[in-house]
Amino acid sequence: MIILDAFNRPLHDLRISLIDRCNFRCPYCMPSEKYHHAYQFLDKKEWLSFEEIVRLVKIFVQLGVIKLRLTGGEPLLRPDLDVLIRLLSAIKGVDDLALTTNGFLLAEWAPRLKAAGLGRLTVSLDTLDEAIFYRMSGEKGSVKEVLEGIRAAEKAGFDSIRINAVIQRGINDHTILDLVKYFRGTRHSVRFIEYMDVGNQNHWDYSQVVQSSEIITLIDSYFPLEQLKNIKSGETSEIYRFKDGQGEVGFISSVTKAFCNTCSRLRLSADGRMYTCLFATHGANLGGYLRTSASDEFITNFIRETWLKRDDHYSEIRSKLRHTPQALPKIEMFQIGG
Ligand code: GTP
Ligand code: 5AD
Ligand code: SF4
Ligand code: SF4
Repeated sequence: MIILDAFNRPLHDLRISLIDRCNFRCPYCMPSEKYHHAYQFLDKKEWLSFEEIVRLVKIFVQLGVIKLRLTGGEPLLRPDLDVLIRLLSAIKGVDDLALTTNGFLLAEWAPRLKAAGLGRLTVSLDTLDEAIFYRMSGEKGSVKEVLEGIRAAEKAGFDSIRINAVIQRGINDHTILDLVKYFRGTRHSVRFIEYMDVGNQNHWDYSQVVQSSEIITLIDSYFPLEQLKNIKSGETSEIYRFKDGQGEVGFISSVTKAFCNTCSRLRLSADGRMYTCLFATHGANLGGYLRTSASDEFITNFIRETWLKRDDHYSEIRSKLRHTPQALPKIEMFQIGG
């Protein structure tokens, strides 16, 4: 079944946050002043169980979902994650099963993830400079561990790993070329992400955004680039190839070139709230429905009705205004995983 929202966008992608905790404290996402030892994260009892996730995914597949991405917080902190991956990879109709991680625990997890049937991996890595990384991870992680994780994932058989790098002016923008050089010539591709005003904690300002066009000009002056034309609808990134055949690099430009017009993504928080936009304030409580013994038919109808009415296009609005357009609080990135 294909369902179209108010802007004719189909539902294709489901991003499932498995946990709202993280072993990093990136200041742009979970600043440690706020997310300290006394902060109340979700109780484990509130997490959707694996059975509940599988039940929902089967419903979503009936409604047109073909891509699943597991996120967090940090999804590798969810106990028995490989058991869930095995269950999800067995569901007919799921063409693509991916996971986004900060890489810190990847070395120990990679073989189990592969064996369980995970298809694709995205690893966040904003810089190769240890001192800057330390600061950007809230004094929690190290480049060495993330690179070891990526190597372990390669060894476990993951091909074409995506490396996500959020670039902030004055913080890590002078380290862009190091990332390019490190991953050029490998099968993996770096994707540079324009810094966004997600959540309510990062005091985002347009002046901190490094526009993708600026990064493209920089990289092109060292390593000539050419844009690949065949962008699939619903993708977040524009892909360029190195003209000398040494691989690809991507750009996610939701600030300067919003891609709301093809946004086919729906997000679930770890406690089963459903968000129709990364910048939404409210999420419908699907988890609550599951626990009050609602029928599959009821849940299916509820999701369909929600999608049919969906008219979110936050990034488009913000790209015209150049400042955060809404006064309402937004969901935090660590609750719905980006
Ligand atoms: P694939 O193309 O399937 O690999 O997935 P993706 O690009 O959606 O995945 P990923 O989680 O790697 O997304 C990369 C980053 O793009 C996220 O962390 C966000 O910063 C940003 N992003 C992803 N989806 C959206 C979206 O719907 N809206 C906006 N504004 N940004 C998004
Ligand atoms: N802007 C852009 N990307 C962000 N991420 C987290 N916060 C932001 C933000 N404010 C990225 C992380 C990770 C992915 C899940 O989202 O670095 O790569
Ligand atoms: Fe950083 Fe991702 Fe953890 Fe947020 S969820 S603190 S962006 S590693
Ligand atoms: Fe989709 Fe909202 Fe992002 Fe636009 S801002 S691409 S509608 S999630």
